[in-house]
Amino acid sequence: MQKGFSENFLWGGAVAAHQVEGAWDVAGKGPSTADVMTAGANGVARKITKEVVPGENYPNHEAIDFYHHYKEDIQLFKELGLKAFRTSINWTRIFPKGDEETPNEAGLQFYDDLFDELLANGIEPVITLSHFEIPLHLYKEYGGFKNKRLIDFFVHYAKTVMTRYQNKVKYWMTFNEINNQADGQHALHTWTNSAMLFEAGDNAEELTFQAGLNELIASARVVKLGHEINPDFQIGCMMAYVPAYPYSCNPEDLMAAVKVMDRRFFYSDIHARGVVPNYAKKYWEEKGYHIELSPEEEADLAEGTVDYIGFSYYMSTAVTTLPDVKGDVITDFPGAKIVSNPYVSASDWGWQIDPVGLRYTLNTVYERYQLPLFIVENGFGAYDELVEGEVHDSYRIAYLQAHIEQMALAVNVDGVELVGYTPWGIIDLVSFGSGEMEKRYGMIYVDKDNQGNGSLKRLKKDSFAWYQKVIRTNGTEA
Ligand code: BG6
Repeated sequence: MQKGFSENFLWGGAVAAHQVEGAWDVAGKGPSTADVMTAGANGVARKITKEVVPGENYPNHEAIDFYHHYKEDIQLFKELGLKAFRTSINWTRIFPKGDEETPNEAGLQFYDDLFDELLANGIEPVITLSHFEIPLHLYKEYGGFKNKRLIDFFVHYAKTVMTRYQNKVKYWMTFNEINNQADGQHALHTWTNSAMLFEAGDNAEELTFQAGLNELIASARVVKLGHEINPDFQIGCMMAYVPAYPYSCNPEDLMAAVKVMDRRFFYSDIHARGVVPNYAKKYWEEKGYHIELSPEEEADLAEGTVDYIGFSYYMSTAVTTLPDVKGDVITDFPGAKIVSNPYVSASDWGWQIDPVGLRYTLNTVYERYQLPLFIVENGFGAYDELVEGEVHDSYRIAYLQAHIEQMALAVNVDGVELVGYTPWGIIDLVSFGSGEMEKRYGMIYVDKDNQGNGSLKRLKKDSFAWYQKVIRTNGTEA
């Protein structure tokens, strides 16, 4: 078997603006959905306070202060050998409220400087337009993405930044992990994906389908527009792929797994194929949902299909209909439950570690869409111990190594077309799910704890030298 990857393979690292930048109210920036999420803990949900409430702990307000440290961080990325760096543009630096006509020049200038610094150091920026950073005003005034007005606001924002950075950024993604909200059941997901919270009496599922569809329409318009701005743009979607395996070979388990996955594929099916899948139409019909989609919007979906599929992969899960196995009930597939897979281990946060699942995902997604794939997140969140200025994170190396091996098999044995690999949280950052600093993914350690104490000093972990070698040898010595 051929080892390694193509010559121009994008080895990189990934972060998101709100998880690293801090400076949440600097230079005209407005508050975003991420700025009203408190610190949670392992197993303790973050609160969404709707306003910035004095006395609460909002970890994203300072994060790792990348806003003021990006130059020194980029020097470390360069030393690491990164060819690509994925981050997002914080929408509220550009449009503080989200519905303005004129952008905030100071916000635009910040990303000009950041992209210039990356390019000057030979690092390609890979940019997500919306990574859980929706202007808070768009929730308060319009109720979030269930309101079609947000389509225009998003398109205006995207047009502004794509025009400004047309000669600096080539790789774009529209909405981060748009399918997190798939079942509409988790407040954190509908908040971060769509800036929506529900009241008693709301049909969360119906509203989430509508919001998701509005985002897909916005995305399609942006893909079309982006290609007009610069035909060389590569514009992708961004999905969270968590494969659900049938727990047993009982045919009912297999069917339950198909239905669970359809729910999550709904978004990339539209992004990639440009039509609403029949299984969704049937479901809406059966439930009596009225999802608004005009003929003009339907045409937009068809004309704005993505160039590639960007996705995150961290773990897999399993589904069963067997009555004697304990698990979490799936609301829309009566009798089915999400259960633990006994063949894999899990992280301290219960995320099931399954490298083969990455190869499986690369295969199934490639077969489904026949589009280039880009792994824009993968990584191991763990408690690190700092001993005399060193972090020996062999567990992180083992996780990443095993996933890169499977990635190599998918490319070299299965023939999957893969653009690049940008492991998540290349530098320690605020966890999205729990708001912790101490759920660390980085190869670069940042001195800051869950209470917000620390010097913010950066240190190289053992995984730094390891990844450096992986990149230098183009994956042949992972
Ligand atoms: C993805 C997100 O869900 O996974 C990131 O795109 C997030 O924003 C990452 O940080 C890891 O999740 P967590 O909860 O461990 O930070």
